[in-house]
Amino acid sequence: MRPVMVGHQETVADGGRARVRVRMRPPAQAPLPHPSQGQHSGPEPPDGRQPSEEGHGPDVEYQRLVEEGVLDERRFVRAVFSGRRRGHAVPWERVVLRPVEIKGRPHVQFTYHGAARSVDRNRAGPAVREELATALRLPFRSFFVELTDREVHVTFNKRGEVAVHSVKKATPVPRAVTHDRQKRRPLPEGEPEAYLVASGIMAPDGRVKADKYDKFRQINEFVKLLDQVVTKQGGHALPESIVDFGCGNAYLTFAAYHYFRDLLRHPVVLCGVDVKGELLEAHRAEAAALGWDGLTFAADTIATYAPPRAPDLVLSLHACDTATDDALARAIQWRSRYVLSVPCCQHELQRQLRDREDTTALRPVYRYGILAERLGDVLTDTLRALTLRICGYRCDVVQFVTSEHTAKNVMIRATRTGRTGDAAVVDEYLRLRDFLGVTPYLERLLGGEFEAALGAVRPNPRIPGPD
Ligand SMILES: C[S@@+](CC[C@H](N)C(=O)[O-])C[C@H]1O[C@@H](n2cnc3c(N)ncnc32)[C@H](O)[C@@H]1O
Repeated sequence: MRPVMVGHQETVADGGRARVRVRMRPPAQAPLPHPSQGQHSGPEPPDGRQPSEEGHGPDVEYQRLVEEGVLDERRFVRAVFSGRRRGHAVPWERVVLRPVEIKGRPHVQFTYHGAARSVDRNRAGPAVREELATALRLPFRSFFVELTDREVHVTFNKRGEVAVHSVKKATPVPRAVTHDRQKRRPLPEGEPEAYLVASGIMAPDGRVKADKYDKFRQINEFVKLLDQVVTKQGGHALPESIVDFGCGNAYLTFAAYHYFRDLLRHPVVLCGVDVKGELLEAHRAEAAALGWDGLTFAADTIATYAPPRAPDLVLSLHACDTATDDALARAIQWRSRYVLSVPCCQHELQRQLRDREDTTALRPVYRYGILAERLGDVLTDTLRALTLRICGYRCDVVQFVTSEHTAKNVMIRATRTGRTGDAAVVDEYLRLRDFLGVTPYLERLLGGEFEAALGAVRPNPRIPGPD
């Protein structure tokens, strides 16, 4: 059933932007194609069924507008289909379309992002139209198409009515086609991004400033690792509330907000928290200038910050020493779905290791300050990863930017599973802790609940509270 225009079309002069707005009556709630239908056990991308008749009606039909945009080989930049219409299920969280060149031939890449994994399909020639027609029949709530000089936004409201906004860009952007041999970054060089320009990383034409290249690389790496957790490994809905503990200069705070708001087109509220309140006024001004009203900043400590609701995602990037433990403890206590933590300097466990008489075979390591420090880092993060696993998280430890840029390049990523107190993991934790003869700070912070998880496997009476 095709949507019927019930409103009107208008052109609005909007500070140099021409806007065409069309309202349509909703398509009937007929069942829409489902990519997991057929022989597949899990969700698979749409399978190239014949396009429906829906996209070939009156000029104002949203499907035709989207199709025209995507098939425009000179102007198409990207498209994102996301959300789900009320009363419908969509097996993919979103589909991202972009032009790519493969073996010298133009293609459109359809990336289907599901809760557990993503699938790429590259289509050329008439197959683009077929894949597109099938993707368009999925009951997404929002269809967004970016052209070099225009953006088309199609949105279904709660009543199922569809609104189409076509907005002319004040400044056209260049079209960037990814080549199959080229590594694509989430924030590509040469494509100006307002917040990167505002923060002085990019020039207005999208060039990355020479002295900001490391920061640019770090931001891209961070967004890539974040994307892997929330869209590929997650198994959960995307987060809605986020806290960034120890946000500091907030490059990564802005990057996280941009990732959800602009790349995923998924609204979030994000609060950057830092004890250095004097830093935050400039961040608030920048967020306001960008119109990012879901991005706020709070002058507070990690331990005392009181969010309006428990965050789904906790970030803690280069928080010093035990500040990382404070952040992990809060995430665990809130039962946050996702945690991304890049520890910084670690002194607490090193102090404990230094202060005790080591009678084990590790003793020679402590003769050399730098080796003792590195061992302390490794042991601290191993105990943190085990603690997260005991507390109901799947956890991995990955490299964050290569070591030639910084030695603080380990990221602990965790996704909540809710399966707490795994006996084998508790045993690993206790054996390592007791071998070292230490009491990790995170264990003291977590107190009773964690103590109970450990005690359920092996009674352990000695856990003093935090200092
Ligand atoms: C090294 S900076 C990291 C900034 C940013 N996250 C990044 O990765 O670029 C660490 C920040 O954490 C803040 N911080 C350290 N301990 C904190 C605590 N307990 N509560 C809140 N902020 C803290 C510091 O003020 C500093 O701005």
